[in-house]
Amino acid sequence: MAKLKILEFPDPRLRTKAAPVEKVDDALRQLMDDMFETMYAAPGIGLAATQVDVHRRLLVADVSRDGSEPHALINPEIVEKDGVTATEEGCLSVPGYYEEVERAEHIRVRYLDRNGETAEMEAEGLLAVCIQHEMDHLDGKLFVDYLSEAKRMRIRKKLVKEQRHRSPEAVAL
Ligand code: NI
Repeated sequence: MAKLKILEFPDPRLRTKAAPVEKVDDALRQLMDDMFETMYAAPGIGLAATQVDVHRRLLVADVSRDGSEPHALINPEIVEKDGVTATEEGCLSVPGYYEEVERAEHIRVRYLDRNGETAEMEAEGLLAVCIQHEMDHLDGKLFVDYLSEAKRMRIRKKLVKEQRHRSPEAVAL
């Protein structure tokens, strides 16, 4: 297992639209395990492959906080949704910022599991919000996109400043 580097806003690679996974093989399962390790270590409750610079449709989530409810969804697709819930969201790619975002309260998702079998699950509350947030990442979308442009620019400015402070040549604009 290996911990992966998480891209941070405004890195343009976070804007990449991920391609569908065509084959669920050992390399993909390894990536999935590495993503779980990276997410738990961060710590976070969800991580999309886009955030670790792999542009394939794969996400992991665990909202239990004790590592007891891991979900790994390959090529996730929302087939049903209803209700509206507003949650204060954060993101491992936008460290230190939390803002309220509205999403569906209940979803049914179709996906491929670890063995490449088609599966479906229902999620509500925080897990539903988390899956929708991670699915946005796979389309190159971030939670800050739901905020006003002024607020997004303010966050961007502060993060770029912090990143420049950390490593002068690693800033990607
Ligand atoms: Ni995120």
